[in-house]
Amino acid sequence: MIVDLTDEQAREALPCKWGAVEPGVVPAWVAEMDFALAEPIVEAVTAAVRRGTAGYPPFGDLGVGAALTGFADRHWSWSPPADASVVVGDVIAGIRIALEVLCPPGPVVVPLPCYPPFRDIVTLTGRELVHVTVDPDTEDQDAAALDLQQVEEAFAAGARTLLLCNPHNPLGRVPRRDELEALATLAQQYGARVVADEIHGPLVLPGATFTPYLEVDPTGILVTSHSKTFNTAGLHTAQVVVLDEAEQSALRAIPLPQNHAYSPLGMIAAVTAWTDCDDWHAALVTRLTEQRTLLAQLLETHLPKARMRPLEATYLPWVDLRDYGLEDPAAAGLEHGVRVAAGQAYQPGLAGHVRLNTATTPLRLEQMVERLAAAVAGSRP
Ligand SMILES: Cc1ncc(COP(=O)(O)O)c(C=O)c1O
Repeated sequence: MIVDLTDEQAREALPCKWGAVEPGVVPAWVAEMDFALAEPIVEAVTAAVRRGTAGYPPFGDLGVGAALTGFADRHWSWSPPADASVVVGDVIAGIRIALEVLCPPGPVVVPLPCYPPFRDIVTLTGRELVHVTVDPDTEDQDAAALDLQQVEEAFAAGARTLLLCNPHNPLGRVPRRDELEALATLAQQYGARVVADEIHGPLVLPGATFTPYLEVDPTGILVTSHSKTFNTAGLHTAQVVVLDEAEQSALRAIPLPQNHAYSPLGMIAAVTAWTDCDDWHAALVTRLTEQRTLLAQLLETHLPKARMRPLEATYLPWVDLRDYGLEDPAAAGLEHGVRVAAGQAYQPGLAGHVRLNTATTPLRLEQMVERLAAAVAGSRP
């Protein structure tokens, strides 16, 4: 059911990921998967294009909210009301709108390491950034829990919003329910809002349990999309979900230029992904779990001094290569035929880390690790 793209097909399908590397280089940087789209999405979007559906998006949501409710109910036994969802262009736009419309004034807490656009979007909204850090190096995922003492200090000093990445990119960690409950209690105490980016929620792998943040904090703001799980980022449809009706109305009342970047094709893809692709999604999780196992074996063989975090979710493992003594292993990797994401993009100043992308063929994953191993060993390409 998961169909691998050949290099030629991937260059056509994923122009950002594959267009950024020379032929022969394995692209393992941006979070896109080298897999064909789920057939129901291909059919629904193709049929819409044949009908000429290429105009402005509709008023109303074409059923995107109800479709997310169905998916959340089937997978997480959580049923947000269908009309709690407001369609936005993408997750980062949704976070911006949440900050502009819903969050109290004051600095915004962004735990590090973080998905790099989190920092940009906070700055673009004119908010001050406050960082809290978790230990990026431990092999014990529990030690990478959000440091609530640092969060409390930031709230006590005036911050009133926290951007939560649940599950976490790039750490691949799924926050435990009790941690989220403790965060919710803290937020309530200080009148702070938590904006939960849960784009990776459907990518939790066997062994971990996903808790939707709004389940523990009804004042939370959920921003999500089907796009990371179903490889449709270019179709531009995401969702902001808030449970308070006045806030839903406030979101729907914002001027068009503040929220205009979603597309009817993306909305059709979203409804199909959330509704008709459970089999494909199950096959994807199986494939990503196999790739996780393969990666562990490959690291043990070729990069035995690498420390990989237990990958609880996503296809984006975070690997500590500092024992090999290179400041920037990603730059060295590029010279050896693999493009991975550099750790310092996620935490400025952090040396020796990379983020990989396992959503590809076993062969490309093998090449990825072998080439990184050659790079850190300093051998000639
Ligand atoms: C945590 C996280 N949020 C948001 C995004 C981007 O989402 P979008 O393209 O919908 O803005 C990504 C992409 O990898 C991500 O990892």
